[in-house]
Amino acid sequence: MKIAVVGSGYVGLVAGACFADLGHAVVLVDNDQEKLAALREGQVPIHENFLPELLQRHRGHSLTFSDDLDEAVRTSAVIFIAVGTPPTEQGEADLSYVESVARSISGAVNGYKVIVEKSTVPVYTSNWIRKIILRNATAPDEFDVASNPEFLREGTAVTDFLYPDRIVVGADNERCAAVLAEIYAPLTDGSYYKRQDAIPRPDRAEIPPPLITTSAKSAELIKHASNAFLAMKISFINAVASICETVGGNVQQVCQGIGTDSRIGPRFLNPGIGYGGSCFPKDLMAFRAVARECGYDFRLLDEVIRINEEQRRRFIRTVRNALWTLRGKRLAVLGLAFKGGTDDVRESPAILLVQSLLQEGCQICAYDPAAHARAKEVLNTTVEYANSPYEAASEADAVLILTEWEEFATLDLTRLHAAVKYPIVIDGRNLYDPGVMTARGFTYYSIGRAVATPENQSVPVPARKLN
Ligand code: UDX
Ligand code: UDX
Repeated sequence: MKIAVVGSGYVGLVAGACFADLGHAVVLVDNDQEKLAALREGQVPIHENFLPELLQRHRGHSLTFSDDLDEAVRTSAVIFIAVGTPPTEQGEADLSYVESVARSISGAVNGYKVIVEKSTVPVYTSNWIRKIILRNATAPDEFDVASNPEFLREGTAVTDFLYPDRIVVGADNERCAAVLAEIYAPLTDGSYYKRQDAIPRPDRAEIPPPLITTSAKSAELIKHASNAFLAMKISFINAVASICETVGGNVQQVCQGIGTDSRIGPRFLNPGIGYGGSCFPKDLMAFRAVARECGYDFRLLDEVIRINEEQRRRFIRTVRNALWTLRGKRLAVLGLAFKGGTDDVRESPAILLVQSLLQEGCQICAYDPAAHARAKEVLNTTVEYANSPYEAASEADAVLILTEWEEFATLDLTRLHAAVKYPIVIDGRNLYDPGVMTARGFTYYSIGRAVATPENQSVPVPARKLN
């Protein structure tokens, strides 16, 4: 199938590369010339497992890059819109890029086209796209608008795309639904997974994935509601962690106890410094705005957002409890990305915490396996960057773990102990067993668990599993 993907950001680039791997002919359209030039030269703009392999495999053959939207529309049967939908000042999704792409598409329609929203958009956007295209004098039977939300996570984007829990197709008629079903057929009929060169299957994936067909409006809601629910799960456990801290409970034990209830499930129940990233914060605000516009005051979402912000303030209080005054303290910060496995620092709680600590007069030496370049674009120049966790920890008053990178869960604790000025670890991601840390001579602060000191060994409990 000939496919155009408009917008080569996180979602567009990964979707385009994966569609090419499913055997389709894909043109990725972007108006950022520098990005296009870099992609054509074989550069990979984001840190994402398997993406370099896929680009290498298909670049110049079944995956091409262009700034000519008209031409791409004319030569494609399906056009995916994957341009950004940033928040406005009021927290609504800014749909002006989506609108301008829709308008451009309408001028180039030369036969039946399926236009698919891939970006996360509020309910009713598909209606608007349809109206805009009709307004520009395209005949109603020459196109359909569908919603095909994307659930990929950064860091595991390619495997999430190729091994999804489900594929949601929001299409309001059979003709359009059939086109989308055909695009995903190599996944839903299992043929992709039999290929020798298929991207390897991750542990938890069930194949083949189900295809869920809904109305376009339901599909739009599914995306917002999914992200809101996951963020709610994180805020819920963060609130429980706060109670654990007050009463001397252990949130890890509580998580184990509630997460084994199959109706609740253990995933996305990891307490920490709050969720970040380019999706949860933005999508929660947008969903709240959509609800308000429909006349429903979705106050549960206000609370989810409030707890998330409070979680960072609580963490600063923990740092203060550990170190007394903050001015002039040298802190090793492990992790700047908004989560492990990515170099993305958009809405990263780690970055927000570093900014607060700088304001308090701390000296920061940071290490992140992938995010230095992006962090430098947003942090002030006083932050030092180290080449390893141990270099960052050198002469530090305390070590702060802010991102759940695998590398930080397996530190050489002897080496870390030798590097620091004081053996204090403040773990915002609960990567360690407090008993292990105290046995290795550290005073260990974490989220929702009692402070553990070498003199006062706490009962060892399982460390958290990474999602
Ligand atoms: C995407 C979705 O758009 C968003 O809704 C979802 O919640 C997360 O994923 P992302 O891929 O991260 O966002 O967006 P971004 O990195 O901003 O990329 C958008 C791309 O579209 C950029 O490369 C930009 O140059 C391009 N673009 C934007 C166009 O080609 N034309 C435009 O008119 C606007
Ligand atoms: C999210 C959704 O998971 C994905 O389905 C959607 O397509 C885009 O938004 P992403 O933003 O890439 O994906 O990251 P995710 O793994 O969901 O993590 C979001 C944030 O929540 C991170 O800051 C992470 O550290 C935090 N988190 C996640 C927790 O604090 N605890 C958890 O248990 C899980």
